Amino acid sequence: MEATTISNGVQTVLRIAGGFRQANVLFAAVELDVFDTLAAGPLTEAQLADRVGLHRGVAPAFLATLVALGLVERTADDNYRNSPAAAQYLTTDSPRALTGFIGFLRSGLYPAWDGLVTSLRSGKPANHAADDGDPYRPMYGKSLDRNNFLDAMDVLNTPGGTQLAALDWSGHHTVLDVGGGRGNLAGLLLTANPSLRVTVFDLPDLRSAFDRFAADRGFGDRLAFQAGDFFADELPRADAIVFAHVLHNWPVETRTMLLRKAFAALPPGGAVYVYDAMIDENDPQLANLLLGLDMLVWSSGGSEYTVEECRTWLAEAGFGQAERHPVGASSSVLVAHKPA
Ligand SMILES: C[S@@+](CC[C@H](N)C(=O)[O-])C[C@H]1O[C@@H](n2cnc3c(N)ncnc32)[C@H](O)[C@@H]1O
Repeated sequence: MEATTISNGVQTVLRIAGGFRQANVLFAAVELDVFDTLAAGPLTEAQLADRVGLHRGVAPAFLATLVALGLVERTADDNYRNSPAAAQYLTTDSPRALTGFIGFLRSGLYPAWDGLVTSLRSGKPANHAADDGDPYRPMYGKSLDRNNFLDAMDVLNTPGGTQLAALDWSGHHTVLDVGGGRGNLAGLLLTANPSLRVTVFDLPDLRSAFDRFAADRGFGDRLAFQAGDFFADELPRADAIVFAHVLHNWPVETRTMLLRKAFAALPPGGAVYVYDAMIDENDPQLANLLLGLDMLVWSSGGSEYTVEECRTWLAEAGFGQAERHPVGASSSVLVAHKPA
């Protein structure tokens, strides 16, 4: 019994310690365009190696690793093709592509995580852009990084956003989505609630990404963008205000400042919706805890926070009792009203 426990423990430690290798194989295959190259059809080992620039000597081992990971399949006639999962999630033309998300993990989060120990000692981000006070503006200056980030956000906000959009919005006509990115969550709200109008309030750098998204979705004047900076500007008025994955980017004093600005922008009876991967004190989820460390190394003083902490900030800003809705795999939405 004891020997089994120890051997399970060894497996657990080795799996955690070696986790970086699988991630690196995936990052490399995406960077080498393996999956996009195979999207055009199966190829022999030599053809694939030559097309993506793989050294012929290492190609067999690398491709065998991708096969073992379930990302590539070897056919009976010794060709390589994408597995169904790779075809769906790892080819850039797929509507379900995760390649932008993977680009953000590779170029944004991975280098920042290299400084985890430094961040744990200092309490400050290891992402040098955030060290200067704001991770967003330097990233938005580079269009590939910006688009990868927006892809990553939309992958993350869609499951919980769909449930958020299915809550009861019948008491509201206008919604402000603060830090709403290029409008994905706004689009989910508009689709589920045909009488709503949503304004996305975000940095001016995102206007062109928003315009492309809005033109594609065709919501007309029900969807609008207001460029602004929530540090410098007051929030525009609306019946309901959403903060989705915004409070976790910043220190507590910024979170409470934003909730106070929301309170001022809402009419009596108006509602604030806070959506984050909040920590449940009774059942903390590993995914949320790791996201909290993402915030430590990458953002500017951010962290995940508990449901009770958020309830306290909402009450301090003047809101009534907050109601919790579990959304997505392990996220929460807190809804609180300004007294009528
Ligand atoms: C983590 S993303 C969340 C995006 C989206 N709400 C979601 O749930 O996926 C944070 C958003 O806050 C925006 N943001 C950052 N600083 C801002 C500022 N000073 N004023 C307005 N928006 C800001 C970013 O551009 C980004 O779209």
